[in-house]
Amino acid sequence: MISSLLYLSILALNLVRYTDALDPRVKLAFTIDRPSQGSSITPDGKRIFLQLVTFDDSTGPGLVERQANGSLTAYPNEAWDSWTEGDDPTTAFVSVAAQRIGPDGQFWVIDNGYGSDGVIPEGAKVVTFNLTTNQRTRTYPFGNLTHSASLLDDIRFNGNEAYLTDAGVGSIIALDLVTGHGRRLLENQPATVGYMATSSEGYLMRNSTNGLHFIQADQLEVSPDGKWLHFQTTAGGMSRIATKYLHNALHNHSIADTDLALNVKPFAPTSCTGSTATDSEGVMYASDTNHLNIMKILPNGTMTTFIHDPSLVWVDGMLLDGQKRLWLPAAQFNRAPEWHNGTNEIRKPIHIYTVDIENGPASLDHA
Ligand SMILES: *[C@@H]1O[C@H](CO)[C@@H](O)[C@H](O)[C@H]1NC(C)=O
Ligand SMILES: *[C@@H]1O[C@H](CO)[C@@H](O)[C@H](O)[C@H]1NC(C)=O
Ligand SMILES: *[C@@H]1O[C@H](CO)[C@@H](O)[C@H](O)[C@H]1NC(C)=O
Ligand SMILES: *[C@@H]1O[C@H](CO)[C@@H](O)[C@H](O)[C@H]1NC(C)=O
Ligand SMILES: *[C@@H]1O[C@H](CO)[C@@H](O)[C@H](O)[C@H]1NC(C)=O
Ligand SMILES: *[C@@H]1O[C@H](CO)[C@@H](O)[C@H](O)[C@H]1NC(C)=O
Ligand SMILES: *[C@@H]1O[C@H](CO)[C@@H](O)[C@H](O)[C@H]1NC(C)=O
Repeated sequence: MISSLLYLSILALNLVRYTDALDPRVKLAFTIDRPSQGSSITPDGKRIFLQLVTFDDSTGPGLVERQANGSLTAYPNEAWDSWTEGDDPTTAFVSVAAQRIGPDGQFWVIDNGYGSDGVIPEGAKVVTFNLTTNQRTRTYPFGNLTHSASLLDDIRFNGNEAYLTDAGVGSIIALDLVTGHGRRLLENQPATVGYMATSSEGYLMRNSTNGLHFIQADQLEVSPDGKWLHFQTTAGGMSRIATKYLHNALHNHSIADTDLALNVKPFAPTSCTGSTATDSEGVMYASDTNHLNIMKILPNGTMTTFIHDPSLVWVDGMLLDGQKRLWLPAAQFNRAPEWHNGTNEIRKPIHIYTVDIENGPASLDHA
């Protein structure tokens, strides 16, 4: 009783004063005025890219580079970041879903192509940029790999292949990075479809008309040896599948999706999750949106609490950098009107924290 009273008063304090985290390991890196869904940092630590969202009614580019003086500039330029309905969707970002510096050192941007009325097929794409020249180097079209209700969500690499999650129509999409050939896998299977609604801070999230939110395949992580793909819906329960099966199904379309699904097994008992990251030893970190925890998931699936801190409200787009820091954007998504009964409870500014961990990223994951 006493401890829960203490916890409640800490929470109450925190509602008023969103400044410092309570756990001394959680350090404030910087603050920004718009919710961030993730960041990328060059291996030398010098360039920081942020993915920003507009669901709190803020406006501006979806992808920015943070300059040394703290200002945020559109990346790669205004033209890519100022798409509006009717513009060419192939040469601009319709809706940035994720970004990541790949193991090849290029900057990978996932555009889910989601316009005002579902996916614009020509707009769904993965685009790579050379970080030296800031020029586009390749576009992987995803029009044939998405449905109208698809929401491309995130990407992970495994040598010459990559995997993406579709959070709209639950699926893992495997992509051959050399040929650009892709295939939707595990579509509408139990492990890619959210049975439980998304939740945070202990309650089921609802929209302005009291509707629940179901988000399909969301987080995904490849083990450092490339042998396993771990994945889950936002609401959790993490599964895994040996990547050899994904590789075979990508290249042999006679392999039925339902047969492929027989190789999916439960892996870790995660709760609703904002984001995951993997280190070079195969330890995964997962942000628990209900308990405001960062969980540690060992390579055998055992889960322990790494950090609990009331300032970690819906940590999204975590990133592990070359300096062995885990970046924790406390995005507060769950407090945006769409997920908070129509009211905006996001407290500005948004805090981007880091915490030191033991290892850096796996080399197959990102540079
Ligand atoms: C911050 O740096 C950027 C890039 O160098 C520059 O364009 C901008 O004018 C600077 N802003 C301020 C307020 O100094
Ligand atoms: C980016 O472009 C530079 C200059 O053309 C080139 O030297 C470098 O290899 C390219 N980087 C990647 C990752 O392709
Ligand atoms: C993708 O769709 C376009 C039409 O939108 C079609 O011309 C093309 O052949 C398709 N590509 C593949 C690989 O199916
Ligand atoms: C709220 O969610 C429900 C169930 O998903 C949906 O039917 C309804 O259209 C949503 N309302 C708004 C305003 O988005
Ligand atoms: C493709 O998969 C089918 C169904 O499992 C199998 O019968 C066939 O031998 C496979 N083809 C190759 C080239 O491996
Ligand atoms: C998982 O691995 C940890 C660390 O090696 C070990 O302590 C724990 O007993 C293992 N758990 C199971 C269920 O194997
Ligand atoms: C959501 O808003 C409605 C209408 O304003 C209100 O009746 C309801 O109690 C609210 N629900 C929650 C969980 O706050």
